[in-house]
Amino acid sequence: MTEAALNAQLEELRRATLAGFASAVSLEELESTRVEALGRKGTLAQISKNLAKLLPEERARLGKLLNAVKQDLEQEYASKQRRFEQAALAERLSREWIDVSLPAPGLRPGSLHPVTQVQQEIEDLFTSLGFAVLEGPEVETEEHNFDALNIPPTHPARDMQDTFWLANGHLLRTHTSPVQVRGMRKFGPPLRLIAPGRTFRNEEVDASHEHTFYQLEGMMVDRDVSVANLIYFMRTLLASVFKREVMLRLRPGYFPFVEPGFELDIRCLICDGSGCAVCKQSGWVELLPCGLVHPNVLRMSDIDPDEWGGFAFGLGLTRLAMMRYGIDDIRLLQSGDLRFLTQF
Ligand code: DAH
Repeated sequence: MTEAALNAQLEELRRATLAGFASAVSLEELESTRVEALGRKGTLAQISKNLAKLLPEERARLGKLLNAVKQDLEQEYASKQRRFEQAALAERLSREWIDVSLPAPGLRPGSLHPVTQVQQEIEDLFTSLGFAVLEGPEVETEEHNFDALNIPPTHPARDMQDTFWLANGHLLRTHTSPVQVRGMRKFGPPLRLIAPGRTFRNEEVDASHEHTFYQLEGMMVDRDVSVANLIYFMRTLLASVFKREVMLRLRPGYFPFVEPGFELDIRCLICDGSGCAVCKQSGWVELLPCGLVHPNVLRMSDIDPDEWGGFAFGLGLTRLAMMRYGIDDIRLLQSGDLRFLTQF
């Protein structure tokens, strides 16, 4: 092979290899281009084998060129390799980037459920007024839930509460009122008790109805208990819950276990009585059924109604918490949704 031909081969090798390096998109491609050109069995090695057959001065000229081509290619390879490595490192750093100056996330403290908060406040208030806090079972007997509260089997009032019955004849309590019965039978008169707890009704669930909700029952049995005592305690209760003086009124209301029975309304806290959507333009909001304990109820728990009397009330704790915090959908309370719960 002539010097000219080998010369042309070297120049072509330089051109093609530089082009190969330039178009390589990965380290692997770059490396395979290098091996093809500069590897032990590569093009340059083959060309250099032919050098031996040339005249000495031809060989010297071509040897110089060969070294220059080799150097150029190695240089270009090294610089392109560095660029690939830097890009890979930059990409990795951007992926694994951590701001070590950020404060540690720490533990997020939990908070009490809004119903629990209202419940505990009311418990504190009534304990300070000499009331005991009682708990009753959620699975009740028919006798405690209905009969001993003056609701006999044939009484239409049983239909007022849609009950979950169990196979053994027991039921999920429809109200906290059976704890009145348990309290009277356990302690006898005089007594003051409240009984917060979970209650159940076979309700179609919507924004204002749940099958599971909370009530807080209250009862006081003593000598000479009157409606005036009832009003005093209810006023104290509501002022404490709403943190302001509230205006209230009693309307007659029917509950078999009290006589007289009342629906206690409060002056609407939203509009102060002038009429709004919350009070349905009436200026009043129905809040709390109550009354004087029916003589039959006292008698069925072995208390003599000629000697003792009392008042009782049944506060809808769930509804009260909703009013207090402005919650407009009862389903949120049992959703377990942290976005909702962490607001309280
Ligand atoms: N237990 C009744 C209910 O859930 C509410 C109630 C009314 C309770 C009058 C009382 C009361 O203690 O005196 O519908």
